[in-house]
Amino acid sequence: MNLDIRLEDPKDHRAVEELTREAFWNVHVPGCCEHYILHQLRESADFIPGLDFVAVSDGHLVGNIVYSTSHISDELGVKHPVITFGPVGVLPAMQKQGVGSALIRHSLVAAKRKSCTAVCIYGNPRYYSRFGFQAAEKYHFKTSAGKYAAALLALELTDGALQGIGGRFIESAVFEADPEAVEAFDKSFPAKEKLVTPSQERFKLLSNLVH
Ligand SMILES: CC(C)(COP(=O)(O)OP(=O)(O)OC[C@H]1O[C@@H](n2cnc3c(N)ncnc32)[C@H](O)[C@@H]1OP(=O)(O)O)[C@@H](O)C(=O)NCCC(=O)NCCS
Repeated sequence: MNLDIRLEDPKDHRAVEELTREAFWNVHVPGCCEHYILHQLRESADFIPGLDFVAVSDGHLVGNIVYSTSHISDELGVKHPVITFGPVGVLPAMQKQGVGSALIRHSLVAAKRKSCTAVCIYGNPRYYSRFGFQAAEKYHFKTSAGKYAAALLALELTDGALQGIGGRFIESAVFEADPEAVEAFDKSFPAKEKLVTPSQERFKLLSNLVH
């Protein structure tokens, strides 16, 4: 595949939201909210424009990854800055051909060049471990609700960046999307059927692995 990765251009915004909607539709829940989150993130102070990449194949947008600032709040309430990627999405027809991996690898190198020291995400350890992500539990930090979660993953870009911090991972408030606002935003896209799918059950199982 002829794949180019470049920074997103403002003129790509709507097409990338459409792509994100296609990528996430019915994957985690019936329908999806990630296109709305992406839309809101771009307006947020937490958004990192220099880490907003698109993948282009033969002139067509096929994938996107965005990053935002987040932090780990330690036991004393001191905030330790980290970054978070997501949504990361690839058009369904283009999945499992290395596009997602290329976006993730490219953006992690760019993040390191920008002196970002650590990346924390929620994701499937089976997929993200190939990029070096490890369970956040290894670094003794929990979700904002104070739980260790199997889906909470971390990658140090600078050796030792996450050592000795502990505490709770706090991501941008944009990730808590208001369902009514999602619904209203989604109406501006072509109608699409919401379905129950097996991947939703897998997602629920992973999300419930907390202690
Ligand atoms: C996740 C996603 C970005 C990966 O992009 P991609 O281009 O398909 O990924 P790659 O081709 O680089 O890698 C494919 C591998 O990832 C695995 N993979 C993809 N999504 C996965 C998931 N949610 N859980 C576990 N493994 C996953 C595939 O099984 C495949 O594994 P293999 O290499 O062992 O065969 C893409 O599948 C996508 O857009 N999915 C829907 C949206 C989504 O779930 N985004 C991530 C939210 S955490």
